[in-house]
Amino acid sequence: MGSTRARTPKNFVLDERLERYRDAIEYEPARWSGRWAHIAAPSIGADVAVPAYREVRLDLGCGKGSYLVAAAQAEPDVLFIGIDMQPVCIAYAAQRVCEAGLANALLVPGNGEKLAHMFAPGELASITLNFPTPHPRKREAAERLTTLDNLLGYRPLLAERGTIVLRTDSEPLFDYSLPQFEAAGFTVRWTSHDVRADHPAIPMSEYEERLVEEGATVHGICGELGCAPAAEQLEAGRKHMLDSLYDYIPDDLYEGAYIPHGMNFAIQAFRNRRRNQELRARHSAPTSSEPNAEG
Ligand SMILES: C[S@@+](CC[C@H](N)C(=O)[O-])C[C@H]1O[C@@H](n2cnc3c(N)ncnc32)[C@H](O)[C@@H]1O
Repeated sequence: MGSTRARTPKNFVLDERLERYRDAIEYEPARWSGRWAHIAAPSIGADVAVPAYREVRLDLGCGKGSYLVAAAQAEPDVLFIGIDMQPVCIAYAAQRVCEAGLANALLVPGNGEKLAHMFAPGELASITLNFPTPHPRKREAAERLTTLDNLLGYRPLLAERGTIVLRTDSEPLFDYSLPQFEAAGFTVRWTSHDVRADHPAIPMSEYEERLVEEGATVHGICGELGCAPAAEQLEAGRKHMLDSLYDYIPDDLYEGAYIPHGMNFAIQAFRNRRRNQELRARHSAPTSSEPNAEG
């Protein structure tokens, strides 16, 4: 699997697309802080006195919006907000929302850094992290959406009993993230190594569809907002927060099995290194006809 950049067809003109599907895009999200449930979309700007939606959910890193659209279709009384840092993804997702005629789904372009300005305390019922970019290397670990620091940043935005659901094809990301959830004071409601089988009602995302076709199974964690973490919990999480995901890969280096997205290059390099080491060890080992150290 190559880059995580969304591909576009030759005749794709981004600005024109963003303009065409503008009804489903909010460029000034901060103005809705505390009032998202009052939005009368698709004509963003109509602020209704009585909440139009029973809750607000965030799909962080929503990609091209298949999950967002399916989730919004399934629950018309919930407002779904998708954020993505790639404008191309926003354009595709907004197109899907408009073409589906959905009033309860919106897109916000951005990298999720300003969530605290976008949402009032307790405004979100849930945050979904569907197949987040794994950022396996240590030097980019802080960008993982499931670091202790990021999870602590989501806490104030969540309503009582609010949840964060991670779904990923990467067992290393799952193994890394679970203790980070616990360190951030989330109570683990469920974990799964086959989310499709265990939670079939969760809509598919584009990445899920694509990666499952390539042989992936989906690993998931649902954490519910719990008490603020104690100092020891935070310390335990911080110790591993910037771990490389390469520390979490299995000893067999996925030989004959599915390699998680974003890990291909590194796994190939590890396999080559291991083979070279084995070859070198074989060449330097004394053969039966050669005298050994004693003889
Ligand atoms: C691997 S794709 C998954 C897309 C979609 N959730 C899915 O499951 O098909 C990851 C997406 O997250 C977006 N992304 C990564 N980091 C982000 C961040 N900090 N804020 C917003 N979007 C982010 C990327 O632009 C990309 O579209």
